[in-house]
Amino acid sequence: MIPLPGTGDATVVRDRFNRPLQSLRISVTDRCNLRCQYCMPEEEYSWLPRETLLTFEEITTLTDLFTDVGVDKVRLTGGEPLMRRDLPRLVHRLTKNRRLKDIALTTNGILLGDQAQALYDAGLHRVTVSLDTLRPERFRALTRRDSFQQVLEGIETVARIGFPQLKLDTVAMRGFNDDELAHLIEYGIRIGAEVRFIEYMDVGGANDWSADKVLSRAMMLKSLSQRYGIIEPIIEQSSAPAQRFRLPDGTTFGIIPSTTTPFCSTCDRSRLTADGMWYLCLYAKQGVDLRQPLRAGLSREDMLSRLRSVWQSRMDRGAEERKELEQTGARGRLIGIEKLREDPHLEMHARGG
Ligand code: GTP
Ligand code: 5AD
Ligand code: SF4
Repeated sequence: MIPLPGTGDATVVRDRFNRPLQSLRISVTDRCNLRCQYCMPEEEYSWLPRETLLTFEEITTLTDLFTDVGVDKVRLTGGEPLMRRDLPRLVHRLTKNRRLKDIALTTNGILLGDQAQALYDAGLHRVTVSLDTLRPERFRALTRRDSFQQVLEGIETVARIGFPQLKLDTVAMRGFNDDELAHLIEYGIRIGAEVRFIEYMDVGGANDWSADKVLSRAMMLKSLSQRYGIIEPIIEQSSAPAQRFRLPDGTTFGIIPSTTTPFCSTCDRSRLTADGMWYLCLYAKQGVDLRQPLRAGLSREDMLSRLRSVWQSRMDRGAEERKELEQTGARGRLIGIEKLREDPHLEMHARGG
């Protein structure tokens, strides 16, 4: 059993490119109640075995260790995190860690109508909901499910409760939702949420990524400025992937240009899967098993020195490397489907979007 950390200042550990470890994305389940074509298009996957899933106590213990080496932001992800039973209980446990300045959630929104109030009461700070279209028939085609109305209800419940921040994330895809950008921004204005458009990424592998489906930041800005006039970039110091912009009427929105303009040089994030594998990059093919040493009772000091030494040797710059492949025309699907069936960790849904 690993004792809780002390309350002194954490020493932030830095990697080979001097990037600090500050943000941890914690996937609490690899299951999902949608089948978005850009993330999880198959009906069945090789799921992580249940006995390997970290308990809330184990997640809290690991988070406490991570905050001892510099992490001060966590984001709960999935799969769909609200499919993990009693998630507010985990949020409540995490709020006890005084080094955590930020506890956020990324969700597809379906179960938010039922759970938003409990999450708020438990102390969750911020919510990001994925919303790729405002057209029910497109939603069905993209997600293979009929839950559009529930998603809107979920979003509107969060807006009503008054979380300090609500963001809507849209994966922008050419030929799918490129005609909805303004409509989504306007929906965001109506409910008090900031919309962010994400370039379609070549992560995972079961999806059907190809360069011609990417709606680039440049294309998005061109189409939005034709409608709204001059769009100003907002200058701010941040390691966040989103670049923010302002419309002439003051409305702000974000673009996450991971595919055409990677932001690896400032990347301070890593990912913990639901079964305790630690990945240093969204594109990493290999992770570090933290569940095994945790369950074997490795001492707190040894766990901490493992975290430090792994991060100190980090050289990941996955999105930049993918971009470099364009020079030889070799950019395409990241991992073949057969390989994905052998190792579920390689899919995007296992490592939390
Ligand atoms: P805030 O804490 O609100 O600033 O969140 P964020 O801006 O970091 O955004 P979030 O972590 O919700 O990520 C939004 C989207 O950006 C994800 O769903 C991914 O599509 C993409 N993204 C997030 N993290 C990474 C990353 O490390 N690398 C790459 N290439 N893309 C990422
Ligand atoms: N490209 C871009 N973003 C993706 N996400 C998942 N797969 C992709 C992809 N191929 C992001 C979406 C989703 C979140 C959970 O992960 O933003 O909302
Ligand atoms: Fe960070 Fe890897 Fe994403 Fe680059 S590709 S921003 S290193 S997670």
